[in-house]
Amino acid sequence: MSLMWSYTCSVGIEPMDDQHAVLMDAINEVLAALSHGADQSTITTCMQRLITLAEQHFASEERLLELHGYPELDGHRMEHRALLERLHEWQGKRPLAGYLSTWLENLRAWFHNHTEGADREYGPWLQARGIR
Ligand SMILES: [Fe+2]
Repeated sequence: MSLMWSYTCSVGIEPMDDQHAVLMDAINEVLAALSHGADQSTITTCMQRLITLAEQHFASEERLLELHGYPELDGHRMEHRALLERLHEWQGKRPLAGYLSTWLENLRAWFHNHTEGADREYGPWLQARGIR
């Protein structure tokens, strides 16, 4: 089942919502590649794109929070670091498709918990400082 962006996923900060939607699309691309039985090189390309987008998004989110002196930034950064480590765990695993289908279920749960939890907490805090 693919991830769908909706207003219930909104953190209330437009550029972050846009980036979250792009990340969901990238996760969906990997899911689609797996369900269509794509070859290993196609799956690897999709995974590399997902990792690059996640790295760019986390850096962008952390920059925004740092710029405004967000008090929970350290904890937020640690959640991002933990995911970035997990994002590299699939490399070298065989059979790749079998490994990734379980791994993506966990990633999807993490993504949901993080955006609905830690990310949602910074939204009102930034909005109170005039950021949208
Ligand atoms: Fe985040």
